Amino acid sequence: MAKIIDGREIAAEIRGGLKPRTEKLKERGIIPGLAILLVGEHPGSLSYLREIEKGCDELGMYTDVVKLAQSVTQEKLERRIEELNQDNKFHGIIIQLPLPEHLDALRVGGTISPQKDVDGANPVNMGRLLLGEEAFVPSTAHGVHQLLIHSGNSPEGKHVVICGRSNIVGRPLMGILVQKQKDANATVTVCHTRTRDLPSITRQADILIVAIGRAEFITADMVKEGTIVIDVGVNQVEIPAGSGKFKLVGDVDFDAVKEKAGAITPVPGGVGPVTTAMLLTNVIKAAEVAADKIASRSLS
Ligand SMILES: NC(=O)c1ccc[n+]([C@@H]2O[C@H](COP(=O)([O-])OP(=O)(O)OC[C@H]3O[C@@H](n4cnc5c(N)ncnc54)[C@H](OP(=O)(O)O)[C@@H]3O)[C@@H](O)[C@H]2O)c1
Repeated sequence: MAKIIDGREIAAEIRGGLKPRTEKLKERGIIPGLAILLVGEHPGSLSYLREIEKGCDELGMYTDVVKLAQSVTQEKLERRIEELNQDNKFHGIIIQLPLPEHLDALRVGGTISPQKDVDGANPVNMGRLLLGEEAFVPSTAHGVHQLLIHSGNSPEGKHVVICGRSNIVGRPLMGILVQKQKDANATVTVCHTRTRDLPSITRQADILIVAIGRAEFITADMVKEGTIVIDVGVNQVEIPAGSGKFKLVGDVDFDAVKEKAGAITPVPGGVGPVTTAMLLTNVIKAAEVAADKIASRSLS
């Protein structure tokens, strides 16, 4: 039976380490600030936004949700981002995805100043990540890496299979795990919808990370005995069908796979809370860099 990796406990540990950093910034007259851009209606994002706001409040950080109409043009959205880039109250800017189809998400991400790009949406940060340079990494990918480290499952030398190649999870995770660095150094296989015979690959994983958005898709026969399973998926399913009662489940058939895995994250309570903690970490990091810049300017 698998050990359950408690994401809430790990997130609390990470947030605990942030408190002294926000206090130090406060002594320097700086309150870390985060702007969250929300385009259109986002019923599915509300609980994530509440978690971010709660986390910011607890740490004495400033946060503001900037709402724009569903019909906003690319130019107007980019102009609003430019304004936020110039606004010293905000050290971090994130855009809640998905954006409406008429908007070019990559171009929007590229408008965020790389120094304020705390969710790694700017291709500059993705490029730096791949090159092994200091970069802002998308929070979910960063969170999965921290979950592995904090739960004592370093990916060093392991075969990590990632299911999903999105820009916010699969690709940046690959970028983190292949680096020639401590707690990386993994052999990484990335799977997607064109992968042939997926089960034969997932069964080779020492660590299996699943981010595909398909409810309970990974079944026990797709996992080898003792594998570490990280379930990124969040899917709302009606159980039982037609009942009008909804439940959140992951991309992994948790009840069956936990009997075979060495360790597994639950949904909810696994990757989600650590994602939020990593976003807060990045906002504080951005505020510290901004504070150091101001200090060095006043010295010169
Ligand atoms: N907990 C968190 O903090 C958090 C954060 C972000 C996302 N999520 C959740 O994670 C899941 C993935 O999100 P995302 O934004 O990364 O998804 P996405 O952009 O929809 O990408 C899904 C990826 O999975 C692949 N895929 C889909 N079905 C597959 C299948 N049957 N076999 C193999 N690969 C398959 C797709 O392949 P192709 O590229 O070939 O289409 C694609 O690369 C969702 O459930 C989302 O809600 C959770």
